[in-house]
Amino acid sequence: MVEANSMDRQRRLFLKRFGQFLLYRGLPLPSLLALSACDVGDEREVVRLEPTLDYYTPLYASPTPLPTTARFAAIADFGTGEEPERDVAELVKSWEVDFVVTAGDNNYFNGKASTIDENIGQFYHEYIYPYKGEYGRGADVNRFFPALGGHDWRQPGAQPHLDYFTLPGNGRYYDVRWGPAHIFILDSIEKEPDGVTSTSRQAQWLRATMGQSDAPWKVVVVHDPPYSSGETHSSQKHIQWPFKEWGASAVIAGNDHVYERVIVEELPYFVNGLGGGRIYDFDNDEIVEGSEVRFNGDYGAMLVEADADRLSFQFVTRAGEVVDDYGLEL
Ligand SMILES: [Fe+2]
Repeated sequence: MVEANSMDRQRRLFLKRFGQFLLYRGLPLPSLLALSACDVGDEREVVRLEPTLDYYTPLYASPTPLPTTARFAAIADFGTGEEPERDVAELVKSWEVDFVVTAGDNNYFNGKASTIDENIGQFYHEYIYPYKGEYGRGADVNRFFPALGGHDWRQPGAQPHLDYFTLPGNGRYYDVRWGPAHIFILDSIEKEPDGVTSTSRQAQWLRATMGQSDAPWKVVVVHDPPYSSGETHSSQKHIQWPFKEWGASAVIAGNDHVYERVIVEELPYFVNGLGGGRIYDFDNDEIVEGSEVRFNGDYGAMLVEADADRLSFQFVTRAGEVVDDYGLEL
């Protein structure tokens, strides 16, 4: 066992050094700075699980042919274990998506290990791999990519979350490439050890990784909404990073339990917090500039579809009503 671990470590170190060599040869200074901030304990590796699925960092980008489309659901603020969550999960399953992303608050109320399977696995185990819970079979490969929310961080180190899932990178913030879609899951909670400001180590990672991506569509998923007209939380300045400048196509957030689409400097920001937790109100005296669609009439989820030329977003209620339908084209 020790030998196997040692060999594995040597292999990862070799890959890391090879990646550093490639990076030093030709990538821009910000990437170099981000890499130099990494230590061995932070090493990341390609995990090839099937020909069409590729978790990767640009350091070890894979030549494997990727699928030509991506179809995924986005949910947030869902982990109550109650009926609205079940209804939204049924909606998501009806879409037959490739994978599910979450913008956090996956496990109310306190992010405990004792509630996590009831609050997540009960309704979404079909997307999780390896699935360690008690509600049936898991997925063939991991198809569930959660961000951390404030409630998930209520346990020290967000350990129940990190123990329950097997995720790329450090599991707190990471990227997933699926065909034309490159997903960047961030951690906006201030307990994040690598920081949550636009100059943090986490932000350097995003800037470098997103900057090197050749995907046509780059989607950021993060709990705190950079822009929100929600009455409970509103816009979160600490996460107003220069996403557009760094190459993002869209930002999907949660935390305010409403649905909103805000366009800021031509970048769409979604608040998508109607996954199952108690619904919040809008602050009608403080509607943010660029807010184009607002809805808090029912629970629901987003369906996102990407191909080489188009990225489309819908918000659909658990009753099947399409509240928003928005598309980007190259
Ligand atoms: Fe929440």
